[in-house]
Amino acid sequence: MGAAGGNGGVAKAAAVAVLVLCMARWSAAGMGVNWGTQLSHPLPASTVVRLLKDNGFDRVKLFDAEDGILGALKGSGIQVMVGIPNDMLSDLAGSTKAAERWVTANVSKHVNDGVDIRLVAVGNEPFLQTFNGTYLNTTFPAMQNIQAALMSAGLGNQVKVTVALNADVYQSSSGKPSDGDFRADIHGLMLNIVQFLASSGAPFVANVYPFISLYADPNFPLDYAFFQGSTSPVVDGGVTYENTFDANHDTLVAALRRNGFPNVTVVVGEVGWPTDGDANANPAYAQRFNQGLLDHVASGKGTPLTPGAPVDAYLFSLVDEDRKSIQPGNFERHWGIFFYDGKPKYQLSLRGNGGGMLVPARGVEYLQRRWCVLKPDADLADQKVGDSVSYACGSADCTSLGYKTSCGGLDAKGNVSYAFNSYYQTEDQDDRACDFRGLATTTTVDPSTGTCRFIIGIAPTSTATRNVAARTAAIFFALLLAGMF
Ligand SMILES: *[C@@H]1O[C@H](CO)[C@@H](O)[C@H](O)[C@H]1NC(C)=O
Ligand SMILES: *[C@@H]1O[C@H](CO)[C@@H](O)[C@H](O)[C@H]1NC(C)=O
Ligand SMILES: *[C@@H]1O[C@H](CO)[C@@H](O)[C@H](O)[C@H]1NC(C)=O
Ligand SMILES: *[C@@H]1O[C@H](CO)[C@@H](O)[C@H](O)[C@H]1NC(C)=O
Ligand SMILES: *[C@@H]1O[C@H](CO)[C@@H](O)[C@H](O)[C@H]1NC(C)=O
Repeated sequence: MGAAGGNGGVAKAAAVAVLVLCMARWSAAGMGVNWGTQLSHPLPASTVVRLLKDNGFDRVKLFDAEDGILGALKGSGIQVMVGIPNDMLSDLAGSTKAAERWVTANVSKHVNDGVDIRLVAVGNEPFLQTFNGTYLNTTFPAMQNIQAALMSAGLGNQVKVTVALNADVYQSSSGKPSDGDFRADIHGLMLNIVQFLASSGAPFVANVYPFISLYADPNFPLDYAFFQGSTSPVVDGGVTYENTFDANHDTLVAALRRNGFPNVTVVVGEVGWPTDGDANANPAYAQRFNQGLLDHVASGKGTPLTPGAPVDAYLFSLVDEDRKSIQPGNFERHWGIFFYDGKPKYQLSLRGNGGGMLVPARGVEYLQRRWCVLKPDADLADQKVGDSVSYACGSADCTSLGYKTSCGGLDAKGNVSYAFNSYYQTEDQDDRACDFRGLATTTTVDPSTGTCRFIIGIAPTSTATRNVAARTAAIFFALLLAGMF
């Protein structure tokens, strides 16, 4: 009995081990995704968690520790990387107490509730050159304070500390990945950070953006941005790089090796392709890039400098975010593999060849099938039209208008209607938001044409959303009273 029981135990243990190995392998070939929340009308957190699970995402990266979102991830089995926004770095660097409070409120509480938090990313691309060095002095001390706070909370082994870095913290003077090193102006700082990562076993998180390379450099070879081979490969000693993703990844690997840190693992914190707002941002290119990436990851081939090693990456992004800053470009609001409402934009097989396609969010509640458009008899030369469009687009999202965008084919009246509708939906179809001094009217006939979608808003779900809408409406009416319109 005892022996039999023992054998049964061994068999069971072996079965579990096999299962765990398979899961680990699947997980390595699985994919993470970034869940951003800069939307006027975010889907309910529980809807998004179900969307993640339905699509087989096993890891998620958050930019902020929002209670509602972490609560919804409870018991989901999804591993979580929680970000700390840059504007908190200075406080966290200056005060161990502030770091302890942050860990208590934003990690310990949720871990105790059953949220599988694995990483804290202290800062989001803090060393971007556009920040002019604002966060150079505070990022590393903040990481150290958060680490110490996690240790004293008894979470030091379970939750690792890292920082999400933009890929311009490393570079190669020759353009060959094997010459990779950290940027000269922050070299010493980077070595301190990498030493910290190495001693705690935390990964180096870097964001890799072939789309931005293409956007920034009109001479960038288009096919080198994708994964189907390139007519302009980079030859580096015995290795030929056919895509910029591998070259970028290996530039970092080379920088780590050159500086004596061969064992620090690389995690790609953000990688993706937008679908609108620029000539190279469209569903076909996004599908080509993301499917190429997913197949590359699923192939298990690794990169030339790390052959056979799993590529660990988080797609950017889950859904479009209509409140993102468009300072980098109009494409910023269109990185989602799903639209704002959780509808897939294109076919994507998440588990490499032979996997299932993207499935939409379930149970999404929309406002009525009603749109706001310019009255057919309105005079485009009327000064009020231009003013109204400026107002609507200043408050709502008009980034699908413009050269080679999804609504780039609209005529002048169509443009105005698009702007009016965008505003009207953002204001939850409030009648007063479809007036524009008598220029606008509602319709139940969908004005969408071809690739241009006139959206219907999703129903407000939280008081937060209502408050934002109420505030925007208040501003609108204040301007109205002030005679702006
Ligand atoms: C927890 O994180 C949220 C979101 O970043 C932040 O607003 C809050 O201040 C944090 N709590 C503490 C105690 O630091
Ligand atoms: C960085 O400096 C430039 C030029 O001085 C300035 O235009 C920009 O606003 C600064 N950015 C930040 C984030 O401080
Ligand atoms: C960072 O520290 C250096 C040296 O103490 C100082 O010169 C610099 O002004 C600081 N930068 C910021 C943004 O605080
Ligand atoms: C890297 O890991 C290998 C294998 O575990 C080990 O032999 C080597 O000493 C490590 N190198 C460093 C620099 O830590
Ligand atoms: C429509 O609006 C876009 C963006 O403002 C502009 O580039 C385009 O020229 C407009 N089209 C017409 C026909 O007015």
